[in-house]
Amino acid sequence: MGLWLPGLLLLSACALTAGSDFQQRPGPLGHSAFERRSSVRERAAKIVRRSLPAWLAASPDHRIRRRSAEPGDSCGALRGYEPKLKDNTHLYTFNDLSGSVSLAWVGDGTGVILALTTFQVPFIMVRLGQSKLYRSEDYGKTFQDVTSLINNTFIGSEFGIAIDPENSGKVILTGEISGAQESRIFVSDDFGKSFSHRDLPFNPLRQITYNPEKSNVLVVLSNNNELWLSEDFGSDWKKIHDMVCLVKWGRKNTIFFTTSLNGSCSDRGMLELRRTTDYGKTIKTVASKIYSYGLGGRFLFASVMTGKGTLRMIHVSVDDGETWNMAQLPPVGHEQFYSILAANDDMVFMHVDEPGDTGFGTIYVSDDRGTVYSKSLERHLYTTTGGDTDFTNVTSLRGVFITSVLAEDTSVQSVVSFDQGGEWVPLRKPANTKCDATARDPDKCSLHIHAAYSTAMKVNVPMLPLSEPNALGLILAHGSVGDAISVMQPDVYVSDDGGYTWMKALDGPHHYAILDSGGLLVAVEHSNTQAIDEIKFSTDEGQCWGVYKFTEEPIYFTGLASEPGARSMNVSIWGYRDSLFSQYWISVTIDFRELLTRDCVDKDYVQWLAHSDDISDPNDGCMLGYKEKFLRLRKDSVCWNGRDYTINTQPTPCPCTLDDFLCDFGYYRKENSSECVEQPDLKGKVLEFCLHGKEEQLQTSGYRKIPGDKCEGGKMPERKEIDLSKRCVSDLVGPEPLTDNQASKSVPIVITVIVVMLLSIAAGVVFVKKYVCGGRFLVHRYSVLQQHVEDNATDGMDDPLESNHTPNGKIEFHHDSDEDLLE
Ligand SMILES: *[C@@H]1O[C@H](CO)[C@@H](O)[C@H](O)[C@H]1NC(C)=O
Ligand SMILES: *[C@@H]1O[C@H](CO)[C@@H](O)[C@H](O)[C@H]1NC(C)=O
Ligand SMILES: *[C@@H]1O[C@H](CO)[C@@H](O)[C@H](O)[C@H]1NC(C)=O
Ligand SMILES: *[C@@H]1O[C@H](CO)[C@@H](O)[C@H](O)[C@H]1NC(C)=O
Ligand SMILES: *[C@@H]1O[C@H](CO)[C@@H](O)[C@H](O)[C@H]1NC(C)=O
Repeated sequence: MGLWLPGLLLLSACALTAGSDFQQRPGPLGHSAFERRSSVRERAAKIVRRSLPAWLAASPDHRIRRRSAEPGDSCGALRGYEPKLKDNTHLYTFNDLSGSVSLAWVGDGTGVILALTTFQVPFIMVRLGQSKLYRSEDYGKTFQDVTSLINNTFIGSEFGIAIDPENSGKVILTGEISGAQESRIFVSDDFGKSFSHRDLPFNPLRQITYNPEKSNVLVVLSNNNELWLSEDFGSDWKKIHDMVCLVKWGRKNTIFFTTSLNGSCSDRGMLELRRTTDYGKTIKTVASKIYSYGLGGRFLFASVMTGKGTLRMIHVSVDDGETWNMAQLPPVGHEQFYSILAANDDMVFMHVDEPGDTGFGTIYVSDDRGTVYSKSLERHLYTTTGGDTDFTNVTSLRGVFITSVLAEDTSVQSVVSFDQGGEWVPLRKPANTKCDATARDPDKCSLHIHAAYSTAMKVNVPMLPLSEPNALGLILAHGSVGDAISVMQPDVYVSDDGGYTWMKALDGPHHYAILDSGGLLVAVEHSNTQAIDEIKFSTDEGQCWGVYKFTEEPIYFTGLASEPGARSMNVSIWGYRDSLFSQYWISVTIDFRELLTRDCVDKDYVQWLAHSDDISDPNDGCMLGYKEKFLRLRKDSVCWNGRDYTINTQPTPCPCTLDDFLCDFGYYRKENSSECVEQPDLKGKVLEFCLHGKEEQLQTSGYRKIPGDKCEGGKMPERKEIDLSKRCVSDLVGPEPLTDNQASKSVPIVITVIVVMLLSIAAGVVFVKKYVCGGRFLVHRYSVLQQHVEDNATDGMDDPLESNHTPNGKIEFHHDSDEDLLE
């Protein structure tokens, strides 16, 4: 089964619109990039440093106490599980040989799964295809073929299954009727039990999107760029705008979209950004000369042409586009891009691509207004064409992020930040490992994590790093141990303390899943050629693994599926069997509930202080101004957390230090100093920084609390506030000019700004040191929400991660393999 042409076509189209060819990258970042070497010292120089926690900075031999049992202590505690699991293993055979399966969990804790199999043959114009719909009500143990509910209509796999964000049981399937001008959708509001159809007066270009706050309201772009809206879950549709390039839901029923005045979405830089808060009755233009826009947390970002050549820069709004401020970030040219790596209501991590096709850029972290940025990490790996970055929000511990840098010798190396981007350090070498051939010194090296970049480079890594907010401190990831990441055999590593310490858990690549809020881990070995019959499981956070043979007849494995949210005890192993005449899908669902015979009680939990090695040290564990003690499951407790398990935390504020503040605009930190000093060459000059789009007095003591920092008392900056009165230059964003006299006065200022910015591109580092505070920085995910600010309006590249793993927990499998999208 190799019929995956549409995907390939899309990919090449993207490469073209991005304006550069991935294949022609100087010194391909593929194999050679991974295999080259570099010393730890060189790497360290590339990382923006602040002080390390003393215990972490200690010599590499310094032994870290693990939370509890070392491997060996308790292995073997689990015995006699075989019969218990046998009784709870359910095999389901699909009489179906389609090329791909999409799975969607409908509702939360309902056990309802929809499986859509699609077989399609792509032609130039018309497509032939067949799809089948299956439904389970028992977490995948059994399925029913419900294809008749949708009258055997073909559902294109690119549209797939749209589940409503409120988990209220709504489902939309977009059908294709070949040759027709219209499209038909099938909708359900009873968790897929019944469907009814609606005919659309247009052909959709993308998947229909739900209003995140009111799931009866839908919007979608048609294939001729009209924006259509329905307020009654798809029955009646009205067109609200023509020539729309990109549409997104904001908060409180707001819809943002870009539109082109002269009829071409490829006319980037000439787009208008519009907004409606009443479903299209009134539409307001909030910015013009837009290249693209993006949403992250409470921030609205737009990249706006500067009017100087092809340069554009970011403007930010915290009131849905009423007023804009210029972000203190370097402008970029046509061949560069901006990307929101992660964002929440406090702050944003922004990647700014380097000029030239380098494959890297710089991460900046914002203040609470989204306007002042601090440099966080240089040489951050992010390919221009593929849009691949390893940036990962470790959701199991506050403030932890992992990503990769491209070293000067083009090797790829992983770094971790434990304080929201304030400082990045290499990952510690796992205790039970040896440095591989990439290491110069056989005793000194670090752990490197395989993430999206490795997947794009076709390294044999079936899954991205995995963490869950309710599985405290736990991270599972593929990696290698050396001076740089290696393409040789990736192994699975586990951390139980949010990335401070690691251990090797499994040899070779695996698919893995977290169940029961971290109380149970499961893994299945990944092989491109071999059929498998075993699943591994661990009840002690990956130290000891039991092996269970779930079938007599091995299957070709494609992926693990468990309910999103990691609370389930049911996991399904998806794959297919291959006989001489047929191939068919198989799912094997194992219910682990009986393995953990009892519910956890108080004595199964121990106190744990996050970001600390020593719970008795009163100065330990402070992160962004507070420390958090948690109760977490003891490793050697074999019990069930349960679906209702909630994380128990007791936050306590820490006294402030200067490190809890960032330098405000016009101030910077000298190297090795925590103090913010006034930027000398700004004294007496007009600042190009403005708030709320009008002339305003800017009061500042030079310090500003890091977003999300909750420190109290202690050492607060004592300097008295001064006035930085200045003037707005945000007239780059239209449509209404600021008041007349301001507009005219601001012209020279605009020029100043641009000149400064231009110089700073050349100066690179100098720019940051001068105009953005040095030292400690702020922060604000798709994680798991990753989003390109530069969403390309004309192709399918926006929100690249969303396309194969949505927040609704949809997963797609393709059994034609190395393109396996299971995450
Ligand atoms: C399927 O077709 C039948 C007969 O044409 C029709 O009554 C029914 O409403 C259709 N079902 C759906 C979900 O469209
Ligand atoms: C749109 O406008 C730009 C500049 O104003 C022009 O170069 C381009 O040709 C126009 N495109 C169309 C389709 O009119
Ligand atoms: C596992 O599936 C069964 C139904 O087959 C369900 O009753 C049970 O609640 C599920 N367990 C969990 C923890 O979700
Ligand atoms: C900052 O500290 C580092 C390490 O302690 C030292 O090597 C460097 O010279 C210092 N820089 C300045 C400007 O003092
Ligand atoms: C990282 O993930 C956590 C947990 O989901 C979330 O609370 C936090 O806001 C995310 N951080 C950013 C910067 O997106």
